[in-house]
Amino acid sequence: MKKKTIRDIDVTGKRVFLRVDFNVPIDVATGSILDDSRMKAVLPTIGYLREQGAKVIIGSHLGRPKGKRDPKLSLGPVAARLGELIEHEVKVANCCLGAEVQEAAHSLEPGDVLLLENLRFHAEEEANDPEYAKALASLAEVYVNDAFGTAHRVHASTVGMARYLPAVAGFVMEKEIDYLSRAAHDPARPYVAIIGGAKISTKMAVLEHLLDKVDKILIGGGMANTFVKAEGFDVGESLVEEEYVDSAREVMEKAESKGVRILLPTDVIVAERFEADSPAKRVSVKDVPAGWRIMDVGETTIDVFAAALRGAKTVVWNGPMGVIEMGPFAHGSHRLAGVLATLGDADTIIGGGETAAAVEQVGLASKFSHVSTGGGASLEFLEGKELPGIAALEDA
Ligand code: 3PG
Repeated sequence: MKKKTIRDIDVTGKRVFLRVDFNVPIDVATGSILDDSRMKAVLPTIGYLREQGAKVIIGSHLGRPKGKRDPKLSLGPVAARLGELIEHEVKVANCCLGAEVQEAAHSLEPGDVLLLENLRFHAEEEANDPEYAKALASLAEVYVNDAFGTAHRVHASTVGMARYLPAVAGFVMEKEIDYLSRAAHDPARPYVAIIGGAKISTKMAVLEHLLDKVDKILIGGGMANTFVKAEGFDVGESLVEEEYVDSAREVMEKAESKGVRILLPTDVIVAERFEADSPAKRVSVKDVPAGWRIMDVGETTIDVFAAALRGAKTVVWNGPMGVIEMGPFAHGSHRLAGVLATLGDADTIIGGGETAAAVEQVGLASKFSHVSTGGGASLEFLEGKELPGIAALEDA
């Protein structure tokens, strides 16, 4: 799946609408951005467009304001941070429609940057309203989509606008498509998938899809509990999705018939309460005490996973191994990140969202071939779905 990129189109002197995913966590009290990695990822695209003499009009959503202006979800703090990152003035429009924005867009000089206010302050954005898409498109002469994290949404600024302007990918989108397509369609083998996260219900589709693609699947996180239960063990008070116990069993049966090895945790860290400072201990997965709950994978599990990863040529990791938002239970994910970071010549692809956060926490993000900027989007890609925000772009 090759898409035209900003290298394939002349942007010199043109007004370029750049759709980015600046949906970043912000401390509402201080306005400080808690993780700017999504912003840093798009700097090469902004830099290239400015070097080419484009006039860059940036549009993004932030949070889910449900079509209403919400000061807590203003992109103001993002504009300030972006100015620091590009070391250049970022002009700010307090809306994304209307005469004032038209005037601001049309008076830009080559190399200037204008950031529009949150695109989701208008309900028409998520409704993919054609008039809204047309109005946004009228600000620019070229449409560039670098918002991979939002490529699974059919919104006016991710899909609709591409009908009205030449539509190409930015460098973030290009790299995401490149790595994720290779894993999806032409992976170097052995190919190992590591799937974690809290809920099996959100990972069933990807598991089913991966069974036809990979050599091994390593399963951790809360979702592993349902598999452990399916194997006949008692998991105490751990999160289990009872209605998926049979599906978990079916996944294991299918894996066996296809020759795909599934590895589950052998030891786990259990806690008395679902709290960071709860008493906790390591036990065999067969001996979870009544009333306790699984919070993380244990050391032996990571040792076993490390051995299974040895020699892998493609590794995709989506979903943490434990409750990473509670420090003591992030250990398994952090250790696993360390194991992946030493895999030498393997293509190591980290799904976005919480998994990206886990590798950032231990400062290892630069050690992987690719850390995706998309949570839901990377998951849907790995499920084999066509992402509408990518499909809308011109083919190369
Ligand atoms: C994300 O953070 O996953 C993207 O920005 C998409 O956000 P959404 O789930 O609110 O569409």
